Amino acid sequence: MVKKSSGSKSSKPPPRTSTSASKSAEGPASGATEQQSAAAILSPEEIKAQQKLLNIFNDTFREIFSDDEFDTTLQKVKQALFNRDFETAFGNEQFLEVYAARWSPGRALCYSRVMSQIRDELGPLILATSVADSDVPFEDEVEMGRFSPTVDLEEDERVSKSSDTLRMLAIGGGAAEIVAFGDYLRASSIVGDLTLLDTGPWAEVVQKLHIGLTTPPFLSKYASAAVKATNAALVEPATRLRSTFVQQDVLQLDSARLSKLLGQTPLLITMLFTLNELYTSGGIKLTTAFLRNLSTIIPAGSLLLVVDSPGSYSEAAVGKEAKKYPMQWLLDHTLLQADKLPPEGCEWEKLQSHDSVWFRLSDELRYPIDLQDMRYQMHLYRTTSRPSN
Ligand SMILES: C[S@@+](CC[C@H](N)C(=O)[O-])C[C@H]1O[C@@H](n2cnc3c(N)ncnc32)[C@H](O)[C@@H]1O
Repeated sequence: MVKKSSGSKSSKPPPRTSTSASKSAEGPASGATEQQSAAAILSPEEIKAQQKLLNIFNDTFREIFSDDEFDTTLQKVKQALFNRDFETAFGNEQFLEVYAARWSPGRALCYSRVMSQIRDELGPLILATSVADSDVPFEDEVEMGRFSPTVDLEEDERVSKSSDTLRMLAIGGGAAEIVAFGDYLRASSIVGDLTLLDTGPWAEVVQKLHIGLTTPPFLSKYASAAVKATNAALVEPATRLRSTFVQQDVLQLDSARLSKLLGQTPLLITMLFTLNELYTSGGIKLTTAFLRNLSTIIPAGSLLLVVDSPGSYSEAAVGKEAKKYPMQWLLDHTLLQADKLPPEGCEWEKLQSHDSVWFRLSDELRYPIDLQDMRYQMHLYRTTSRPSN
C-alpha cells in the first residue's frame, strides 16, 4: 500500500520506508511480491545518482503531494488500474500527474539501470546526426526541447549540428522514460532525441519533467556557497535533451506516419510496461499487425526493448475459449519467424531475454511517498537487413 508519510508536505522528503514489499494495483512488477525482497546495496555514487532522479520528481510534483485531493485521486487511479480500465487510469492529466508522482519514480530508476546495462548495444546507435531543420512537427506533436526556458537558440543549433545523437522512440512512454533517458545523457556528452508516443495526454507532465531535467534544482537561500557553486542540472547544456510528445494510438498509425517517427537512422524503440497493454486492450490481431508493419519500416540496426510484468501478469487471451498466451511468446512468434514477416522488411535477432528480474530500491533513498521494489521481464531485439537473394 502506498503510504503518504508524515513529512510529505515538507521540502525535505523522509526516507522511504523499508516496508516496500506490498502488492500494488498494477500487479507484482510494480511492487510486489510473493517473496520478500531485500533492499538494494548500492555504492554511494549510485545512490546519489538515483536520489537526483527522485529529487527531480519531488521538485516537479511538490505541489501535488501537498494537495488535499492527492489521496483521493491516487485511490481513483489505483482502482482504475486494478480494474484494468486503462483508458480511465491514463485518460486525464490530473490522473497522469498523480500516476507520474507515484509510479514513475521507481520505474525511472529501473529503466535507467536497464539502459545502462545495455550501453554496449546502444553504442552503435549513437550517430553524428542532427534533427533535420526541415522537420515540421505534426499537429499532435509537442516539442519540449524548444520550450525549455534555458534553451539558447545559437547553442541549440551548434549542439544539434555537431554532436553525436542517440534517438529513442518510447511507445506508451511518459514520465519514467524521459527521466531515465535524461539520466542516460547525464553520464555522457551526447545529444538525446526522444519521442514519446502515447494515447494519454502526457504532454504537460513530460514537459514539466523536461524542464526539471535541464534546469538546476531550486536551492534554499540558506544553501552553502559550496552547494550553490556546484548546483547543476542533470542534463547540461539543456540543448542536449530534445523531447517531443505525440498523442496517438500506436495501433492506428499508418505506415507514412510511423516511417516519419522512425526516421532513417537506427534508433532505440521502447515498450516499457506497454506491450502487454497493447495485446490485452488493443487486441492480438492489431498488435501483431503493428509489429509486422514496424518490421517493414524500422531502420536496420535499430533496437527494440520490451520490459513488462513477469509471468502470468503478462498474458493475452485469444479466441472463444480465451486461451492465454504469454506476451513474450506472442512477441517472439511474430518477430523471430522470418518467413512470417513481410519479405520487404528486416529480420530480428534476440540479444537478451530475462523472464524475471528484481529491481530493488535502497533504504537510503528519500521520497515523500513510499516507493516499491519491482519485478519485470526484459527482452532486447535488434533488426538486421534481410540478406538479398
Ligand atoms: C502501464 S502504462 C506505462 C507507462 C510508462 N511506460 C511507464 O512505464 O511508466 C502504459 C502506457 O501505455 C499507453 N498505451 C496503451 N495503449 C496504447 C496505444 N494503443 N497507443 C499508445 N499508447 C498506449 C497508456 O496510455 C499508458 O501511458
